[in-house]
Amino acid sequence: MKSKQQYIKLYISAFLLFSIHINAQKSNDSIEKKIDSILSQLTLKEKVDLCHAQSKFSTKGVSRLGIPEIWMADGPHGVRAEISWDSWNHAGWTNDSITAFPALTCLASTFSPDLARQYGFSLGEEARYREKDVLLGPGVNIYRTPLNGRNFEYMGEDPYLASVMAVPYIKGVQENGVAACVKHYALNNQEHWRSLINVELSDRALHEIYLPAFRASVQEAGVWSIMGAYNKVRGQYATHNELLNNKILKDDWNFDGVVISDWSAAHSTMESALYGLDIEMGTGTDGLGLNKENHYDYYYLANPFLEKLKKGEIPESIVNDKARRILRLMFRTNMNSSRPLGRVNNQEHIEVAYKVATEGIVLLKNEEQFFPIQDNRSLTIAVIGENATRSMTAGGGSSELKPKFEISPLDGIKKRFKNAAILHTMGYESGPSEYSRVVPGKLNADSLKIKAIDVAQKADIVLFIGGLNKSNSQDCEGDDRKEFGLPFNQDILINDIYEVNKNLGIILVSGNAIDMPWLSKTKGLMQCWYLGSVAGNAIADVITGEVNPSGKLPFTFPKHLKDNSAHYFGEMSYPGDGVNQYYKDDILVGYRWHETKKIESLFAFGYGGSYTNFELSNIGINKKSYQRDEVIEISCDVKNVGKIEGAEVVQVYIGKPNSKIERAKKELKGFTKVFLQKGKTKTVKISIDISKLKYYDTELSAWNFESGKYDIYVGNASNNISKKKIVNIK
Ligand code: GLC
Repeated sequence: MKSKQQYIKLYISAFLLFSIHINAQKSNDSIEKKIDSILSQLTLKEKVDLCHAQSKFSTKGVSRLGIPEIWMADGPHGVRAEISWDSWNHAGWTNDSITAFPALTCLASTFSPDLARQYGFSLGEEARYREKDVLLGPGVNIYRTPLNGRNFEYMGEDPYLASVMAVPYIKGVQENGVAACVKHYALNNQEHWRSLINVELSDRALHEIYLPAFRASVQEAGVWSIMGAYNKVRGQYATHNELLNNKILKDDWNFDGVVISDWSAAHSTMESALYGLDIEMGTGTDGLGLNKENHYDYYYLANPFLEKLKKGEIPESIVNDKARRILRLMFRTNMNSSRPLGRVNNQEHIEVAYKVATEGIVLLKNEEQFFPIQDNRSLTIAVIGENATRSMTAGGGSSELKPKFEISPLDGIKKRFKNAAILHTMGYESGPSEYSRVVPGKLNADSLKIKAIDVAQKADIVLFIGGLNKSNSQDCEGDDRKEFGLPFNQDILINDIYEVNKNLGIILVSGNAIDMPWLSKTKGLMQCWYLGSVAGNAIADVITGEVNPSGKLPFTFPKHLKDNSAHYFGEMSYPGDGVNQYYKDDILVGYRWHETKKIESLFAFGYGGSYTNFELSNIGINKKSYQRDEVIEISCDVKNVGKIEGAEVVQVYIGKPNSKIERAKKELKGFTKVFLQKGKTKTVKISIDISKLKYYDTELSAWNFESGKYDIYVGNASNNISKKKIVNIK
């Protein structure tokens, strides 16, 4: 029974919320009226000019009316260095260094929506200070194959996790008056043949796996722009696609923002005009071209568009809608006089980057308590591997960064271990980070290996710091990895090191699952992602126990590539035949596949170790049966039964046995992260809105609910369930 004071508080907060909503509505109405007024003053040419690039990363305003240009910048992990007006070269500015935040795969591994909000806000502040109106991120494409070159830029294999982490990130960015641009819409799940491959898939896979993060970005985060992908979907280019843009995005989801093409992803004036593209970017990468005419005027949504409008082949309502959306974006950004000023390279941002890095690192193996490593004078540590010193903010494609500083793993280890002797050698060399080709290293591989074995023999423990890097055919945009294993003969080097020193720990700096033939030979194993400016500090603090690791894998590590659902169905499933590919794995992606088909993984989605241990108990559910408009309340006691503080992620998966349709055995539908001092217990509560348990009914072409029994799995990894409860939903 609520007290009188509680009722009064409820009333006041309800009134405040109502008045905020009314004020927001009033300001929206006034903006729409201003847009109406501006539209009535624009010439047809000025409206068309709004719809395409004037340079590599900007579009025209309307100078005679004082309407500003729109300036865009990559990327999802930090604000990219200034690019020149009319080429992909850096502009060579000296004031565009920034904070490099950890890659989004690391952010997803934190399972912390609160950190996602801090990340987005900090990144948005830096974009604002760099006077960018649109930040080209986050990337939310689903991790379907471990070979995808851009998985490191995305949020893993699960649509619920990607949605829950993308929404606060976008809200944080946009609090600065900077538009986020969620990308790449949609089904850009590989880089190989990205500009032409046509993806064919079922409606259920489309709506249940590949669209949810975009839908949440639109309907829950209110994202102001979205980037059309390069590939085709069901025969039409994604960036001007009648189903994706007109039907789903702008009609069903009621998106009121701007569709921006990926760079040179537009291929037709009529389709760009009629199928939902609002701003065309990057079509002529040499913009000013060789001819005298300004190449940008030749864009599909430039003069050809204007001509068709003048001839009446395209109704003026089409360009009016595009112009309205673009002006609306401006009133939210560069014509919003009350937006903040932004900041860059400040301590708060560095601390956010550090928190995300340390909370995202995943402890995969820790035999004989290899980690944490205690610093002492009698200890000699051999740090071997190119990734101990290689810059990982460079390369990778458009998400490359120019940080004000970047602390390498070796820097961090040397700083943290004040007493131990640190030996270092490269061990192997991969060559410079190149986008479109592999450039071999210059050093002699044999002599590097001999040196590595010599150093390993002299040490008490070996830290091998390897993995992938941000170069062509690794974790890099433009193409996919060519092999599932580690490149540059790292596997052989690891085995050779093991032969001379069994006290081996491996730190993987990478953004993808890899093959691990040496797994039994390493005592410790950390998945350390691309961690940005403070990488070395974060790694050093986690391996020494300053910070207890709490990251959980956002994607599955399969034992063999063929165990992965995309590869299981052969070439037409991945990578396709150069024209088409068929997502034959359908709704069973990642752990959904492994759990349903009972294919054991090497490391499971949601898995991550700790230097302490947790016990989940007293798992309860508020009712045994529900109506479909209710909420399932799950409670669980979490106890830290170890010797140091740490954090655990309680995960709730839901499945429907004996369903009338095909379903994954379990799907992530809720999680919460809890920090606990040693010996402490906390009861956590996770609510699941039953409306979120609908499936996409292909007969109705709509979301539908199947009543009956549901399995509720509560655990700390997709393959580690403490308790299963059964409920009935009418
Ligand atoms: C690239 C990427 C996209 C990026 C854009 C601008 O091709 O696909 O993510 O934002 O072009 O660099």
